[in-house]
Amino acid sequence: MAMAQGRVVIVTGAGRGLGRAHALAFAAEGARVVVNDLGVGLDGLPGPDSPAARVVAEIRAGGGEAVEHGGDIATNEGAASLVESALAAFGRLDTLVNNAGFLRDRMLVNLDEDDWDAVVRVHLKGHFLPLKHAAAYWRAEAKAGRAVAARVVNTSSGAGLSGSVGQGNYSAAKAGILALTLVAAAEMGRYGVQVNAIAPAARTRMTERTFAEAMAAPDGGGFDAMAPENVSPLVVWLGSRASAGVTGRVFEAEGGRITVMEGWRPGPTVERGGRWTPAEAGEAAAKLLTRSQAPGAVYGAGE
Ligand SMILES: NC(=O)c1ccc[n+]([C@@H]2O[C@H](COP(=O)([O-])OP(=O)(O)OC[C@H]3O[C@@H](n4cnc5c(N)ncnc54)[C@H](O)[C@@H]3O)[C@@H](O)[C@H]2O)c1
Repeated sequence: MAMAQGRVVIVTGAGRGLGRAHALAFAAEGARVVVNDLGVGLDGLPGPDSPAARVVAEIRAGGGEAVEHGGDIATNEGAASLVESALAAFGRLDTLVNNAGFLRDRMLVNLDEDDWDAVVRVHLKGHFLPLKHAAAYWRAEAKAGRAVAARVVNTSSGAGLSGSVGQGNYSAAKAGILALTLVAAAEMGRYGVQVNAIAPAARTRMTERTFAEAMAAPDGGGFDAMAPENVSPLVVWLGSRASAGVTGRVFEAEGGRITVMEGWRPGPTVERGGRWTPAEAGEAAAKLLTRSQAPGAVYGAGE
């Protein structure tokens, strides 16, 4: 049996790039797909086309089942109608892939409040709201005594894991998505919902110019490591019944490589059983730092 046979899957921002690849990969594994995309430009401003309709047509042309949802997932209305559209079209919801987003890159000193708000909104709130509406449905299902094997796959980024120069808004939102993933996994496990996150890297309009060399397809054939389709197999597995027992985890996925990311943990520590003076606290902290691992590099630092 195909891995996602019979499942109903929502993919946000599925009109192009990684979301499109995920939607097609789920359909190829037997899922019925709700293809969401607002069709905005790279900076989130209104775009001229509706890419979700094209992906729906592609899935149908391949013999699969899909419906389009063109709403904004970072609004309560858009997120609610997204979940409703899965229920209206297919009568159930099994998997939510939160993926939609856009960039407004600036150094922090040049970052306008609007660019901060827009990017934090689309990524962080754009994960929370669909998650909340899907969770309400799954909790009601579980309370009604029906078996739930639901999956949520969130989309973080290397920028959220390590920080990225010129992307303070995006890095903060993507780091927030990691914490949201941990909380959602802990809160929703009792209802049969697993929540994990990926940090992908692939050639899409988001990366094809900034990282043109690293993202290019190889000349003369061979494995096209940066094709977005390489990230989707892990997402399909995380979104299927086959990943039973895996929750609250973060994976990097790029080309042919999958890495489990291990997060913040306590390092060297000292307890004095009372309050430090600032001078004593500084001395103690400096000593601890000599015994600790150096932090990982921030993307783009020192370039
Ligand atoms: N491409 C990479 O290497 C990379 C790396 C790390 C993380 N990511 C993340 O992967 C996800 C997909 O990015 P991509 O590279 O495929 O970019 P993309 O621009 O090709 O696709 C994103 C899609 O989201 C849609 N969208 C934006 N705002 C929306 C909204 N409010 N409601 C509904 N749809 C909306 C856009 O119209 C677009 O089609 C993003 O969350 C991105 O931050 C990508």
